[in-house]
Amino acid sequence: MLSNDTPHERDRLEAIQRNVDAFTTGILQGLPLQASWHCLELGAGAGSIAYWLAENCPQGRVVAVDLDTRHLDAGRAANLQIQQADITSGGYEPGSFDLIHARYLYCHLPIREAMVERAARWLAPGGWLVIEEPYHLPAETSPFPAVQRLLTAYQRMYREHGADMAWARGLPALLARSGLTEVSFTGNLGCMGGLDKDRWRPLISQAAPALLAEGLVTEGDLGEFSALLDDPAFIDIPQVTISAWGRRATQLPATPATS
Ligand SMILES: C[S@@+](CC[C@H](N)C(=O)[O-])C[C@H]1O[C@@H](n2cnc3c(N)ncnc32)[C@H](O)[C@@H]1O
Repeated sequence: MLSNDTPHERDRLEAIQRNVDAFTTGILQGLPLQASWHCLELGAGAGSIAYWLAENCPQGRVVAVDLDTRHLDAGRAANLQIQQADITSGGYEPGSFDLIHARYLYCHLPIREAMVERAARWLAPGGWLVIEEPYHLPAETSPFPAVQRLLTAYQRMYREHGADMAWARGLPALLARSGLTEVSFTGNLGCMGGLDKDRWRPLISQAAPALLAEGLVTEGDLGEFSALLDDPAFIDIPQVTISAWGRRATQLPATPATS
């Protein structure tokens, strides 16, 4: 369902970027971003945030890593490096980056907590780790029966693929437990329908063949959902994106003297 090989993957990645890039860059602009920073974009997708970082850190460099780099363009900036790698098996030297950002990645990883700790170690002293992940609201609380059916199926499919769409709730505490300081967080309410009626169309189009094959939804459900998206009075809130960030201390705490 989530494979980069599906024909709708590019549309899905671009829909994500259109919908949440302004929120993400707002958070990044709130950090003391410097032109010389070395940045790492984990699970870079179609690359918009990596490109933004490359533009905003012109004297630094940006490494954009993804399992599948077909949607990334290395020619976008001279200070941009694209890497095809699985971040759960590779790694970087401790202290390599001033900023590490990941969005909608950790929920898919099999070892989420260990990967937060690992990313924290890749930070230079004073460096920032920013992670943004979805928190799906309960499908059955949607006021629209068609959305209840579709989201129940969609969420079940994600769970069966090992994704955790509620993990984000523990993210601020996890950053603090990973030794980061100045931990902060905020939320971005997702919108289904309303002014952004096309945000969910590519997401559901990508998942539809698998949902139908598993018998989790019918063609009728998909048709009803598509009609809802065309209805200007249809607005629902399927998820919140929880964004949390913290900073590696500029100096490690002194080791207590042994007597
Ligand atoms: C939902 S997309 C989000 C893309 C981008 N971060 C964004 O928000 O626009 C998740 C991305 O993470 C990548 N990904 C998933 N598991 C990965 C792993 N173990 N190592 C590297 N990239 C991974 C996928 O290939 C995909 O491009």
